[in-house]
Amino acid sequence: MLRTVTCGALSLQNLGESVTLCGWVQKSRDLGGMTFIDIRDRYGITQLVFNMDDNRELCERARTLGREFVIKAIGTVVERSNKNPKISTGDVEIKITALEILNPAKLPPFMIDDETDGGDELRMKYRYLDLRRNPVRNNLILRHKMAQSVRRYLDALDFIEVETPVLIKSTPEGARDFVVPSRMNGGEFYALPQSPQTFKQLLMVSGFDRYFQIVKCFRDEDLRADRQPEFTQIDCEMSFIEQEDILNTFEGLIRTLFKEVRNYDLPAVPRMQYADAMRLYGSDKPDTRFAMQFVELNELAKGKGFPVFDHAELVVGINAKGAAGYTRKQLDELTEFIKRPQVGATGLIYARHNEDGTIKSSVDKFFNEEDLKQWGEAFQTEKGDLLLVLAGSKDKVRKQLNELRLEMGNRLGLRDKNTFSALWVLDFPLLEWDEETERYHAMHHPFTSPKPEDIAMLDTNPGEVRANAYDMVINGTEIGGGSIRIHDRQLQALMFKHLGFSTEEAQKQFGFLMDAFEFGAPPHGGIAFGFDRLTSIFAGLDSIRDVIAFPKNNSGRDVMIDSPSTIDDKQLKELKIKTDF
Ligand code: AMO
Repeated sequence: MLRTVTCGALSLQNLGESVTLCGWVQKSRDLGGMTFIDIRDRYGITQLVFNMDDNRELCERARTLGREFVIKAIGTVVERSNKNPKISTGDVEIKITALEILNPAKLPPFMIDDETDGGDELRMKYRYLDLRRNPVRNNLILRHKMAQSVRRYLDALDFIEVETPVLIKSTPEGARDFVVPSRMNGGEFYALPQSPQTFKQLLMVSGFDRYFQIVKCFRDEDLRADRQPEFTQIDCEMSFIEQEDILNTFEGLIRTLFKEVRNYDLPAVPRMQYADAMRLYGSDKPDTRFAMQFVELNELAKGKGFPVFDHAELVVGINAKGAAGYTRKQLDELTEFIKRPQVGATGLIYARHNEDGTIKSSVDKFFNEEDLKQWGEAFQTEKGDLLLVLAGSKDKVRKQLNELRLEMGNRLGLRDKNTFSALWVLDFPLLEWDEETERYHAMHHPFTSPKPEDIAMLDTNPGEVRANAYDMVINGTEIGGGSIRIHDRQLQALMFKHLGFSTEEAQKQFGFLMDAFEFGAPPHGGIAFGFDRLTSIFAGLDSIRDVIAFPKNNSGRDVMIDSPSTIDDKQLKELKIKTDF
């Protein structure tokens, strides 16, 4: 080892010891006869001191050190007269007797500090320098701790970690595939897995019984703060279980993670039907850190002559507690918010529960005191509350009110990053109608089993069939999803038929799985968590980028290595992608 201690290890207990430290120059200060250098490594920062009177040549050499130079320094631990309580080594400094420059460094393009002056793109281009900064490194350390905790928990329950291939054939998880050309099979392509779904099911057929993998998945989809083209799942599967077993096992995993990694006591995770989540929150991933549930007003609001309500399929609102004091300007802002194209509502109706006990609405012309009193009862308002009401077609208005609810949650400070609220959302619909292609798609994936009691409806009312599928939501983010699978060839074939596959197409794409079902497939089910999302929630971050060592930007590019990039004609020819030379 070039060093005897790290830069975060020394304290008053080490006084008088002779030590060798290695690290990067964080900063240096010249104070006449003395030079102070802060040396940094992954573990911390230690102050080195050089005294002109003790060793002039050494002190002058110290003055030549620039930021981020890599150095090795030997000296004695002494007590500091000017202590720094902010760092763990702040009581001591090292009186240096020898100094070696291991590698000089160019001036970094941005400050390597907790608060940096570097913009996003610049930090992405020099990601290896960004990773020297404490907040970014700490996110990766957190990620590491979470991965270890996951492995411990699942190992203790007899789960076996198995690696599945990365060069595969398309798995339909709803996104587009990334494809990889094959030189040995010219003109043919592998697909990168959107998830190891079919492989983990095959492992169940093989009798592995309990499988997990912390695994990279690839999806060519539009990027957002919580989506990367390559991301990591904690992917799990179990045999001889029912939905209840999966929910208990993985609720245990998440609660254990919170306890071990954040020392946070996450209460038992409540459960909600998909249909209720849509009715009460207008979302299948409600942020349950705050209540503000939807109240439907059709019965009270329709038939009073207000055309907007009378023509609407659904009149629905929320009670923003304590917001009756909102000014005209604030209400206009909210109206602007819901009218933005991303939300798409046409207008906002509001009612205030005033201090004098009266309720006054923006549509008083149509609703008398008694009507508004009934509104108040429906929303259980108190003095000082503000009712916000939207009207329109059911699905649209629910989505719009969901946006407004989250906005009010932000404005009223109800979405604290250090508070965690988890929820199981159960019984998703099996199928989802796609307007564009005019056919049904599997809402989760085609291997999800319908609820046995709903199977008969597949022919008569496919949109109403419920699946044995579940999502875990934390603070309004979908962090995991899974289902009980089909393990019977006939039922799987029926599913493919309902998804618009011909028998030949289904056999060509998924024959391997359906064939396997005929060789003794056990009942099985599983779940996959988005590991990046989970980590970013633990870290209190809005984006998953900062919990990924080398992430892609919003256009899916790695600006550091400049990828994706073109390849030369020779390679294209070899891959039989381009032959016209
Ligand atoms: P699903 O498609 O719901 O299920 O994915 C599981 C979880 O992965 C995370 N996730 C993502 N995270 C970051 N970037 C992305 N682009 C991205 N896409 C998904 C989400 C999501 O909840 N095979 C099934 C699981 C199963 O049925 O067992 C699957 O992949 O947090």
